[in-house]
Amino acid sequence: MHFFDYRVGELHCEEVPLHRIADEVGTPAYVYSLRTLERHVRVFDEAFESAPHLICYAVKANSNIGILRRFASWGTGFDIVSGGELFRVLRSGGAAEKVIFSGVGKTADEVRYALESGILFFNVESNGELDVIQEVASSVGKRARISIRTNPNVDPRTHPYISTGLKKNKFGVALEEAGQLYERVRTMPNLEVVGVSCHIGSQITDLEPFKEALQALRTFVVTLKSSGITLQYLDFGGGLGISYRGEEPPSPLNYASVVIEATRDLGLTLILEPGRVIVGNAGVLVTRVLLKKDQGGKNFVIIDAGMNDLIRPALYGSHHEIWPVRETTEREVADVVGPVCESADFIAQEREVPVVHRGDLVAVMSAGAYGFSLSSNYNSRPRVAEVLVEGDRYSVIRRRETYDDLVRLEQ
Ligand code: LLP
Repeated sequence: MHFFDYRVGELHCEEVPLHRIADEVGTPAYVYSLRTLERHVRVFDEAFESAPHLICYAVKANSNIGILRRFASWGTGFDIVSGGELFRVLRSGGAAEKVIFSGVGKTADEVRYALESGILFFNVESNGELDVIQEVASSVGKRARISIRTNPNVDPRTHPYISTGLKKNKFGVALEEAGQLYERVRTMPNLEVVGVSCHIGSQITDLEPFKEALQALRTFVVTLKSSGITLQYLDFGGGLGISYRGEEPPSPLNYASVVIEATRDLGLTLILEPGRVIVGNAGVLVTRVLLKKDQGGKNFVIIDAGMNDLIRPALYGSHHEIWPVRETTEREVADVVGPVCESADFIAQEREVPVVHRGDLVAVMSAGAYGFSLSSNYNSRPRVAEVLVEGDRYSVIRRRETYDDLVRLEQ
């Protein structure tokens, strides 16, 4: 659910008409609804209230510090995958002791930064990584808390590029091998085992893969226990999907009850790393129609947002609804494309879309997750502004880049 809707024919974010933001801030611009973010965090957190838990928002989904600051003020934890993300979290007032460091390749510098900041634990994905963390921890005279990210070999039935829990993926340690890593950690003086982790993929709209992974994790934790290895945390990752085009993903409550049910008797604190489900439907990309073009019997709507601003359709064939900012019931079949010099630069292909004309505004929906955070300067396009709406006010939480910004680091 979200707080974008039409009032007297004009698309609003909460109480602010999107055309006002477009006129004052320019286009393209990402516009986020604070009320939606707040609600999503609360609903997700409340869904787990019957179990000891910590929500660690996956920073990669949307890493703007204007948003992270809000999450930090609500007491949310954070899942990070780089030193840069840790920096953003700390800059936003996030508590280091609620930070989990995931990712398959952490540098020694990143490990040191995280250790010195006092994060909760590292998700370790290989034997080699245990060595790196042991070395760094020993050199700074600290003990690193770690959790092994296991790979339960479960098919999350999502796009192959965002599936992570299959044996053929680079992520995690196969369950059959993970036991050896736990045994090895016992011999490493600067490491302390605190948990077990798993993240099977993203945009998962079915509970079955989660259930399978939980079953495998359960069995594993019980086996560990019988060999004298006790844990405090079970980190079940993120991955809960959202509705882009009528999908019906499980509600946070249903998802939570499956997780809690499968793990309750293990006596562990749950860690969850949701990203998309928190920010996905809380943001749209507002863009203006530059012109229309008929070619080869096709109808192209050319907008001022390109694949550098929102790469999801090009990268995963993702669907994003296109809503006119001024309501219209007229429809036509068109390709909605950006100005970038690539044929993959599209938002929609051969889709029935609202009829729009040069100068009109459209909102590309459900763009709050992996939208701006995956954007680039390709074609030397300045990255767009980000705006946070709160009730009847809005603030620019990232100004639009200038041409000077484009060359600032070059000589
Ligand atoms: N935890 C870990 C270890 C992850 O790798 C991810 C996402 C998450 C949590 C958060 O997953 P979520 O709740 O957002 O599904 N760029 C792709 C999605 C990549 C997901 C990467 N990992 C997209 O635009 O669909």
